[in-house]
Amino acid sequence: MDLFSMDQGERSEVRKGRRSIWTIGGGKGGSGKTFIAVNLGICLSRFGEKVVLIDTDLGGANIHTFLGLSFPQRTLSDFINKRVGSIRDVVVDTDIPNLGLVVGAQDLLNAANPKEPQKWKLIRHINSLDADYIILDLGAGNSFNVLDFFLISENEILVVTPEPTCIENTYRFIKSAFFRKVKRIISHFGVKEIIDMAMDQGNERGIKTPFDIIELAGKIDKSIGLRLERELESFRPKLIVNQVRTKSDVDIGLSMKSAFLKYFGISMDYLGYIVYDNDVWQSVQRRKPLVLEFPQSRASKCINEITLKLITDKPFVFSSEG
Ligand SMILES: Nc1ncnc2c1ncn2[C@@H]1O[C@H](COP(=O)(O)OP(=O)(O)OP(=O)(O)O)[C@@H](O)[C@H]1O
Ligand SMILES: [Mg+2]
Repeated sequence: MDLFSMDQGERSEVRKGRRSIWTIGGGKGGSGKTFIAVNLGICLSRFGEKVVLIDTDLGGANIHTFLGLSFPQRTLSDFINKRVGSIRDVVVDTDIPNLGLVVGAQDLLNAANPKEPQKWKLIRHINSLDADYIILDLGAGNSFNVLDFFLISENEILVVTPEPTCIENTYRFIKSAFFRKVKRIISHFGVKEIIDMAMDQGNERGIKTPFDIIELAGKIDKSIGLRLERELESFRPKLIVNQVRTKSDVDIGLSMKSAFLKYFGISMDYLGYIVYDNDVWQSVQRRKPLVLEFPQSRASKCINEITLKLITDKPFVFSSEG
């Protein structure tokens, strides 16, 4: 099925009128989060849906550059620093129909490190935006701010490249995201302490995986142990392997999926892969989004397939290409 040949009826069938928030993160810098956020957003907007891209890479905002836009007058800084009252006031139009953009904060001191209340206000406003799809591009690393933005959606997408360093960071990121998620909903002091300990990789009690936390929490309070088990079952991040060059790179997504389940009890969806493609580099140099500049490129086709997979929830069919 081709994304752009669907008629309006098929599209509404696909979306079922739901508003979706997608968050795009991953432990490592430079893996392609922003590139993917922008191009997925464009694929969706060409579909007739209202899309807002939000650059939550506080301090390292660069989505506007991927889109070839100059730095606008209104940015997330204005909202975080209360110069405007609503996030709607900082959504700017792009040249692309149906695609709005919130340009990230660039003032390093205030907006890049929002205080807790500012962050939760921002998250509330993002949740109330009027759009069919809201896509959040996250910064690198697994700081609390990044994890909290990552966790605001049901569609948590991880971008990994087939390099040991990036794979390692992704494992750490996902574990931290799960620990952060449960820390926010558990009020029992003793269990919170265990979760805090788990966040420290080298903790003395050797708490490493969600299984360890569930076991220890269950000893303190059986019902909390069961609650954590349910949270683990419902935590279902999605994975994209970017910059693949070989068939074994493609398979990394499948191995990570089984390793996450086996060692952490986390079920992950493997959304698909994007080939390493010089056209990506060319499009970034030209400040023109790949799917518009090189719609026939191999990487554009991969993004098209991933978009389709995301909106239809149909299984991804792996080709032997890579
Ligand atoms: N599939 C690909 N093929 C070739 N080059 C790619 C591909 N994906 C990304 N790149 C290159 O990687 C660079 C970094 O991508 P991007 O800025 O999207 O990463 P990021 O994860 O957002 O980084 P950061 O964590 O610093 O925000 C791009 O400028 C592009 O040149
Ligand atoms: Mg980025």
